[in-house]
Amino acid sequence: MTVSLKNRSFLSISDLIAEELSHVLSTAAKQKKGKMPQVLAGKSIALLFEKPSLRTKASFDVAVDQLGGHPIYFGPQEIGLGQRESISDVAQTTSRFVQGIIARVFTHSSIVELTKHSTVPVINALSDGEHPCQALADLLTIHEKKGGLKGVRIAFIGDGNNVASSLAQGACMLGADFVIASPVGYELPKAVQTTAKKSGGSFLQVTDPKDAVKGADVVYTDVWASMGQEKDSAQRANAFKGYGVTSELMALAKKDAIFMHDLPAHRGEEVTDAVIDSKQSVVFDQAENRLHAQRALLSLIFAK
Ligand code: NVA
Repeated sequence: MTVSLKNRSFLSISDLIAEELSHVLSTAAKQKKGKMPQVLAGKSIALLFEKPSLRTKASFDVAVDQLGGHPIYFGPQEIGLGQRESISDVAQTTSRFVQGIIARVFTHSSIVELTKHSTVPVINALSDGEHPCQALADLLTIHEKKGGLKGVRIAFIGDGNNVASSLAQGACMLGADFVIASPVGYELPKAVQTTAKKSGGSFLQVTDPKDAVKGADVVYTDVWASMGQEKDSAQRANAFKGYGVTSELMALAKKDAIFMHDLPAHRGEEVTDAVIDSKQSVVFDQAENRLHAQRALLSLIFAK
């Protein structure tokens, strides 16, 4: 089977089939050690960001540069997607200047609309529904640390949010056993659960963090209030009491379990300093892999 991502947009991890996802990861692993193809030479890529960013902005900017291209960044104050200008007009105008668009948006429907009216590939750099580029980096990291994904037990503790949605679907696609513990009302969306369940591996939604972490190879958490949910922070902090990843919780996982977090972390809330700064924590290797995974993705989408 020939795998090609050429000229394709990437909005959700489920836009890929297992062979394509594996191909992105093996390309990333290869490029990490070897040459970076100059597929973006003479090309410009727009980064349209409605929300703040450290890792995503830096890693995409560097990745475009390493592939020979020119990144153009538009921050939260500049675009006014759907406010200053309609999404359709932004998409059609930007498509006349650049060869690709990387967008971070509040609502997933905005990036779907942007893609519909763009004539160049669009990549999701986080929406409220998914964070598929984060999942690429997460899967690359788990592959490196655990030698593969098949049969690896991944326990996600906390909100059934964008990061969890992309990781659950991608991990199951590659044969992992994914279990997520969330308070009632904060579970993974039903549609995501359905996709994960039929992707392969296994998927389980539970409420007790201890049930999830028992025997886990990977323990993963993310913030309780994502960008755009700041006004619900207090209510969420209350709902997520008992869902923080502590050393006691980590002790229930396998001895060689790793701790992961997409960052930024709210230390003292979803994770303690002792865990995130421990030897088990791989959060900065994981952050670095954003660059390698996204560079691989770009090199395949813009392959000559
Ligand atoms: N769930 C978080 C991820 C940040 C990278 C958010 O959407 O804010």
